[in-house]
Amino acid sequence: MAAQSGDGEKDGAKFVEFIDVEKMYGSFHAVRRLNLDIRRGEFLTFLGPSGSGKTTTLNMLAGFERPSEGMIRLDGQPVERMPPYERNIGMVFQNYALFPHMSVADNVAFPLSVRKIPKSEIGPRVVRALEMVKLAQFKDRKPTQLSGGQQQRVALARALVYEPTLVLMDEPLGALDKKLREHMQIELKQLHEMLGVTVVYVTHDQSEALTMSDRVAIFESGEIAQIGSPDQLYNDPATAFVASFIGENNALDGTVERVNGDECAVMLPDGLKVIAKAVGPLPQGAPVQLAIRPEQIKLAAEVNGHDNRIGATVDGCIYHGDHQRLLARLANGQILTVKIRPEASMAMGEPVDLAWSTGDCRAFPMGTAISGGH
Ligand SMILES: Nc1ncnc2c1ncn2[C@@H]1O[C@H](COP(=O)(O)OP(=O)(O)O)[C@@H](O)[C@H]1O
Ligand SMILES: [Mg+2]
Repeated sequence: MAAQSGDGEKDGAKFVEFIDVEKMYGSFHAVRRLNLDIRRGEFLTFLGPSGSGKTTTLNMLAGFERPSEGMIRLDGQPVERMPPYERNIGMVFQNYALFPHMSVADNVAFPLSVRKIPKSEIGPRVVRALEMVKLAQFKDRKPTQLSGGQQQRVALARALVYEPTLVLMDEPLGALDKKLREHMQIELKQLHEMLGVTVVYVTHDQSEALTMSDRVAIFESGEIAQIGSPDQLYNDPATAFVASFIGENNALDGTVERVNGDECAVMLPDGLKVIAKAVGPLPQGAPVQLAIRPEQIKLAAEVNGHDNRIGATVDGCIYHGDHQRLLARLANGQILTVKIRPEASMAMGEPVDLAWSTGDCRAFPMGTAISGGH
């Protein structure tokens, strides 16, 4: 399918632009000061908790909702006066939204018939779209005669059949069980690579976002807290919210005791001290949240040169096959989760020294209001 119009790299950087977009429902601010560029051909995911504004943002792009303020450009054109059907966007929803009385083939043909594509062209295009999602043999069935996963593939074929340049998917796999969902993630990713179409995908499932996306935008209370590649978000979270939303994280509350360049000494309750990387302005005395991932905490006996060393006792150990999760209780009662080797043996109540590098431990201002997406 010719999903790309080949306008070159420079233009591709801004296939879709949200410029200072706001959405109010009465006095409720659903989307705030949204500035976002979507690149041609990328797989971009909106990830965030329920109610954070993902669907509203997607619907403004699709044309089902109007921004209260600001502007959206699609391929350089303002979309304000463009009705949904003129935007050449394919949509896939969680609930499939197939027509129950029509056959699979007629469902997939529907977007072509309403676009007045000649009948002679429709047949072959429907077959091609159904072959793409491996459902050609079911073309005469009704949707109710298919499984949930198959129905979702019909919905996908229907969204792709008219060769849209942009496909929007709102929690499309949410109704499927885990195994099928993981299978469909791979299929969707392969289709994206094969077609080169731009995909904007909504999910609240972080593992889905991390495995499928070129970039992920983290939504929090109507704003983008951070946008970046999965590994940027995982390794360099900009806020405590992002650190806790992406991947596993130990969060510890403390107070800044001393600042030294981009490092700071943080006092935990009961006088424990930790050196951390300061993210954002952190004046002395400021309350902070420390974030450190389970795999970044080491057993002190097994490493050299980690700046933080802290005593704990074993509070539990859970076997996970390829690793164990050690629950380590600090002197102040706080518990850290630590990923350790599967064969390490740990007895309940045993003392254990933990170590981690300053660079792996981030100090964020407490309760930061998140400022716009970059
Ligand atoms: N039509 C509407 N009228 C009033 N409030 C709405 C409407 N649609 C969404 N909202 C509110 O806007 C917020 C964002 O909703 P939504 O974009 O659907 O979140 P998400 O998709 O991230 O779960 C929610 O608090 C929701 O209740
Ligand atoms: Mg939603």
